[in-house]
This record gives sequence, structure tokens and C-alpha cells, in this order.
Amino acid sequence: MPTIVFASPKGGAGKSTSAVILASELARKGAAVVLIDADPNRPVTAWARRPGKPESLEVVADVTEDTVIDEIEAAAARVPFVIVDLEGTASMTVAYAISRADLVLIPSQGSQLDAAEAAKAIRLIRQQEKAFARRIPHAVLFTRTSAAIRPRTLQHIRGEFETHGVPALETQMHEREAYRAVFSFGGTVDNLNASQVSGLEGAIRNARAFAAEVVALLRQAQAREAVA
Ligand SMILES: Nc1ncnc2c1ncn2[C@@H]1O[C@H](COP(=O)(O)OP(=O)(O)OP(=O)(O)O)[C@@H](O)[C@H]1O
Ligand SMILES: [Mg+2]
Repeated sequence: MPTIVFASPKGGAGKSTSAVILASELARKGAAVVLIDADPNRPVTAWARRPGKPESLEVVADVTEDTVIDEIEAAAARVPFVIVDLEGTASMTVAYAISRADLVLIPSQGSQLDAAEAAKAIRLIRQQEKAFARRIPHAVLFTRTSAAIRPRTLQHIRGEFETHGVPALETQMHEREAYRAVFSFGGTVDNLNASQVSGLEGAIRNARAFAAEVVALLRQAQAREAVA
């Protein structure tokens, strides 16, 4: 079943945050989800130790270069969604995870400097496509953007990616306190208290839209594969 990999060599691009939000939202909708923590710093495992992790979301920890492919394949055989969080560097673990992905999401904070880092991830994906002689669907996910303004630089960068054949998700992961709060308190945006976290409703809506777009992209990719 589909494997979604978050990859970017840029530290702090928003991989772990977006992975946890996506996994939580899919689990909230009733799907069984395995979230593989393939970052040696274990940010997802630390989140899962706090209270409030959805029942249908299982976190697989202690995944290394030697085990990442087996863990992805084992999880994909038993649940409908596998999500992989990777460390912010180029490594064999990253290359292996990409080789097994049905969709690679490349978080990027929407500046030109961040776009250059995203381009490195895209080059690695294209190498893996050649190595494994298969298409690996991938898209840029803009993160930490403003919910209130649509800067022209962001539109420009989106256009540049598109010119190079890389779509960016329509949904952005806006800068939201709620997405930081889940790592402090545990659980999901749905268990946060609106009186303690500002902009919670917007964060919840944003998470729903993000997951819906990812599911739609996976469906499109599956349909393309069936035709090919
Ligand atoms: N949409 C968001 N809204 C608010 N804060 C965010 C958002 N996305 C990420 N952050 C914050 O930005 C920082 C980096 O995010 P995160 O840890 O998810 O990035 P990462 O790509 O996983 O980093 P690394 O490469 O170190 O693993 C964290 O402090 C996180 O709380
Ligand atoms: Mg991370």
C-alpha cells in the first residue's frame, strides 16, 4: 500500500512536522498508518511517547540504513498508508527510502535558498528513478508559509519548479503554532485546546486539506500506473 516519503537535505524544512500531521489526519479518518522514524535523532518517536497518539497510528522506531527497506516493505504489506520521516541530510537511508516511495514530498520553506536545497532532493529522486527504472512521483510541499499573504517570491519559485517538471502541492503547510504544539504536548491538532493554541481552527482545516490532496495525488499516480 502507498508509501509516502518526506525528503529534503535541508535541516528544519518541515519534514517531521508535516509527516506527523499527515499521519495523524489519515489515522483520524480511520486508516491504519505506520509512521517510520528513519531519522537517527528520533523526533517522531519522541512525539509518539507523549500522550494522544491515535490508536490506528503505529510508529516504527530504530530504523537504520540496514533495515529501512525491510521496514517499509513489511509495513506496506499490512497497512494502507506508510509514511517515512528522514533526517535532513543526504544518506543511503534517504536513497533507499526514496527507492520504495509511491510519493516523495519535498518540504521547502519557499525562499530561493530553500528551493536550491529542494532541487538536491529532486536530483536524488531522478537518480533513483534511473537506478530502479521506474517513475517515482514527487512534489514540493511549501511549509511555514503565511496563511494571510501570498508572496510573489513563492509564486515565482512554484513556477520555476513547474518549469522543471516538478509540481508543488496546492496546499501549503502554513506557519501555525498548533503544528509546534503537538510536539510539546503530544497527540494531534484535534486534541489541542483552542483557548491555549492560537489559530487552531485554521491549522485543523489546513491539515485536512493537506491529507486530502495527498490522497488525491496517490490516486492519480495509481491510475497512471494502471494505464502504463
Ligand atoms: N507548518 C509549521 N508551522 C509552524 N512551525 C513549523 C511548521 N513546520 C515546521 N515547523 C517548525 O520548524 C522547525 C523544523 O521543523 P521540522 O523539525 O519538522 O523540520 P525537519 O525537516 O524535520 O528537520 P530535520 O531536517 O532537522 O529533521 C521545528 O521547530 C518545527 O516546530
Ligand atoms: Mg525531522
